[in-house]
Amino acid sequence: MARKKIIAGNWKMNMTPSQAVELVNTLKPLVANDEVDVVFCVPAIDIIPAMEAAKGSNINIGAENMYFEEKGAFTGEISPEMLVDAGVKYVIIGHSERREYFAETDETVNKKVLKAFEHDLTPIICCGETLTQREQGVTIDFIRQQIKIAFLNVTAEQAAKAVIAYEPIWAIGTGKVATTEQAQEVCKAIRECIAEIYDDATAEAIRIQYGGSVSASSAPELFAQADIDGGLVGGASLKPDFGAIVNYNK
Ligand code: PGA
Repeated sequence: MARKKIIAGNWKMNMTPSQAVELVNTLKPLVANDEVDVVFCVPAIDIIPAMEAAKGSNINIGAENMYFEEKGAFTGEISPEMLVDAGVKYVIIGHSERREYFAETDETVNKKVLKAFEHDLTPIICCGETLTQREQGVTIDFIRQQIKIAFLNVTAEQAAKAVIAYEPIWAIGTGKVATTEQAQEVCKAIRECIAEIYDDATAEAIRIQYGGSVSASSAPELFAQADIDGGLVGGASLKPDFGAIVNYNK
């Protein structure tokens, strides 16, 4: 069965609640494409108003982060149950900015992935190499390690439902998109890694996105690659351009 593409916006730390409502209303008609899954991952405070504004559309509202404990004395954190209660289905886990600025590690990513599945949330699990790692020729080894740790103790049934976002750090927010060959090569290696950990059926089912300076002009070629099942889009997800990215196949 062909995998359904999933195109997700990552708003990062942008948009106040009222701006979020405005942006959802602007983008709603532009992102109408039932052939793909459309997700807007928004700041926690925007989730409820964005959800309300997106009602009746094909837009799913997702979160950008979540904590791995159920509840309690973790000031400032958002629990999985809070996300579920707000109607969230997708949550970005382990974005490179979380790893760089908020001390997230492969181990905390794994804890969050397990917790997300426990609550039936679909994790969008991020991985990606630095420019130095690419130049040292260790990209695939590094990504394989990130994937192997992220999926520790995750069952095949859960893994089949996961989304992985391959985002080379040097391509994020830099306007320097990976070539289609580079993106396809790593996404293929990720799928092979999943096949090794689990089996071919799980590898065939899992969806792998490319992220890093995706634009309306680069999306069609990237998303046409055999192992690229959509994108995780930062900057361009805040603009009408996102409509063209979601409708890359039209
Ligand atoms: P970008 O961000 O599209 O602005 O490069 C992608 C991301 O960080 O998810």
